[in-house]
Amino acid sequence: MTAPREDMPPDRNLALELVRVTEAAALQAARYVGMGDKEAADQAAVDGMHAVLHTIHMDGVVVIGEGEKDEAPMLANGEIVGDGTPPHVDIAVDPLDGTRLTAQGRPNAVAVIALSERGTMWDPGPVFYMEKMAAGDGLVDLLDFDRPLGKTVELIAERRGVEVRDVMVVVLDRPRHEEGIKAIRDAGARVRLITDGDVAGALMAAAPDRSVDLLWGIGGTPEGVITAAALKCYGGGMIGRLRPQGDEERQKAAAAGYDVDKVMTHDDLVKGENCFFSATGVTDGDMLAGVHYEGTRGATTESLVMRSRSGTVRRIASRHDRTKLRELTGYRLG
Ligand code: FBP
Repeated sequence: MTAPREDMPPDRNLALELVRVTEAAALQAARYVGMGDKEAADQAAVDGMHAVLHTIHMDGVVVIGEGEKDEAPMLANGEIVGDGTPPHVDIAVDPLDGTRLTAQGRPNAVAVIALSERGTMWDPGPVFYMEKMAAGDGLVDLLDFDRPLGKTVELIAERRGVEVRDVMVVVLDRPRHEEGIKAIRDAGARVRLITDGDVAGALMAAAPDRSVDLLWGIGGTPEGVITAAALKCYGGGMIGRLRPQGDEERQKAAAAGYDVDKVMTHDDLVKGENCFFSATGVTDGDMLAGVHYEGTRGATTESLVMRSRSGTVRRIASRHDRTKLRELTGYRLG
């Protein structure tokens, strides 16, 4: 057995604590599955996440949160979270990736948090949209925005030793993607359109079972940074570049000094090799089961809990006693 290095003592796997945070968000949001109210679902997830986040032993600053403080009283960008003890960390949250998915009872809504050492998370500033490409191990070097998409799916097929018609690309169903979708189809590959949730989409593309080979398209920049953290832990990789939509966003990006031509990798978006990620399913999906209710008191959740330094990927199935949780925390969870 190798002796532990004195300069690198065994440290905590914070992801194992963060799972309580995403479980709380998922349990809260799940009450709104199919209820048609995406704002209420999001608020419930924020409340659940916020309540538990403050119990975690860390000194965290929210780099990617719910927005500016005036519009998001909780989990706003810049908010200090945790109990204030080390480690000093950056935090990215998406209490509910798939607010609409949840409201409409559709698959793949997840509650997500990512954490990395202080100063290592890229701040997307005022630019909400980013073009992203993500894929699993063995395909990452093929990700390229300059090459036509049709050519990229051909190269993926070649690398995988399959026909182009076997290749599947997951894309957010948006009018802005019409041309790209046509290029993929014209090359002979298949397209899986998702209505929302490109963090889950990127994880599908990185998953070793290869039901999806590639994620492509323009989605949220905050979700891009969260995806980078997820893939640094899970395996696979991504590239991203800012794609401001409209003149106002373009002007804001320029004023804030952002280079919209710069192509960034997951290592640019989240630097360093010590990041943590937890996602809990809200609705049943490809990667995770959603919240299920059992009897009058119980609920179950499934989470993906990961750490980049060790490369350990855990699936945590939990059974919760909602009555006891309420007694313990003083508020209703699920
Ligand atoms: P929310 O559920 O947090 O609103 O985000 C859902 C989502 O689909 C993201 O996964 C994606 O990155 C982004 O919205 C796309 O933005 P838009 O819906 O404006 O195209």
